[in-house]
Amino acid sequence: MTATSIDEPTFRAAVEAAVRAPSLHNCQPWRFRRQSDSIEVLADPARGLPSSDPTGWAVHIACGAATFNMRLALAVMQRPVDVRWRPYPADTLVVAALTPAAPRSATPLEQRLFAAIPRRHSNRDPFWPDPVPVDARARLLEAAGAEAAWLELVTGTAAVGAVAEIAHAASRVLNRSPSYVAELAAWTRPDDTASDGVPASAGGPSPEPQDLFPQRPFGDRERAIGRDFEAEPLVAVLGTPGNLPSDQLAAGQALQRVLLTITDLGLTASMLSQPIEVPAAREQLRLALGRYGTPQMVLRIGYGQPGYPTPRRGAAEVIDVVEG
Ligand SMILES: Cc1cc2nc3c(=O)[nH]c(=O)nc-3n(C[C@H](O)[C@H](O)[C@H](O)COP(=O)(O)O)c2cc1C
Repeated sequence: MTATSIDEPTFRAAVEAAVRAPSLHNCQPWRFRRQSDSIEVLADPARGLPSSDPTGWAVHIACGAATFNMRLALAVMQRPVDVRWRPYPADTLVVAALTPAAPRSATPLEQRLFAAIPRRHSNRDPFWPDPVPVDARARLLEAAGAEAAWLELVTGTAAVGAVAEIAHAASRVLNRSPSYVAELAAWTRPDDTASDGVPASAGGPSPEPQDLFPQRPFGDRERAIGRDFEAEPLVAVLGTPGNLPSDQLAAGQALQRVLLTITDLGLTASMLSQPIEVPAAREQLRLALGRYGTPQMVLRIGYGQPGYPTPRRGAAEVIDVVEG
């Protein structure tokens, strides 16, 4: 091992953290490779979602989020890294290269965010009505800003209603595509024995007409009478100045930083990407927010009953071994 290389156990521990990242339908579209002087994060074309993600946006978000977990894991092991997006123009499957930076101890914030990795999960259930305090909101804005993204907190019934309407319209567009509907069904799992896909138990209660937001139908759990979604969720839109692959990868990092901050604050969240997946809806959302740049994810944030992390493929299944 040279001073700048990362040894096998350190690499493996970093991959174990990386795979806990979120991905569209839990498709886990990533692979990881250890080179003599770097770690590479690769997009896995075999695990893309052609109907839901024809442009590769969601692959980049997921790989960016995995890179952020990896960065944190390496930092707590006192092996901080620098990240370069798309380091080889001729090989766009390599989405990030992580190279060792000067060794230092992890900051208390890095340690807290790292500790939040195994506790974070999407929560599609109704949240409690308690509002998110101002200082917690400030930390969420800071988390996005630290990763070169912006976070718009959507407040007020009219503004939240406008975002919800855009999301419903996008959802109607998507549901008119039989291949989109088939893809969603194919990635929904009856239980949590599969190592990928969304288990029905994580899917949230079955949708009802009075719901503010369209929930993807991963589960068909009967809803108890009166168990409605919170009336005033904190809705946030994460965005980036541009929309190149490197912006989307940076958005994935920022998303994961925001999500881990949410967990660290004792809050919970679900993601809503229908308005991002339909180009016209995404532009409407941008206009509604009055922001420059590109919306990359909509989040519903609040306090709720803790759930369970969803399954993942193990490190051995996502590591490519470099010969020689
Ligand atoms: C790009 C992207 C888009 C997503 N879109 C949605 C969505 O529209 N609705 C939803 O319920 N979850 C969405 N998710 C969350 C994933 O379904 C979730 O991350 C995955 O199933 C793994 O579960 P976990 O977040 O509990 O670890 C999205 C995640 C990513 C990364």
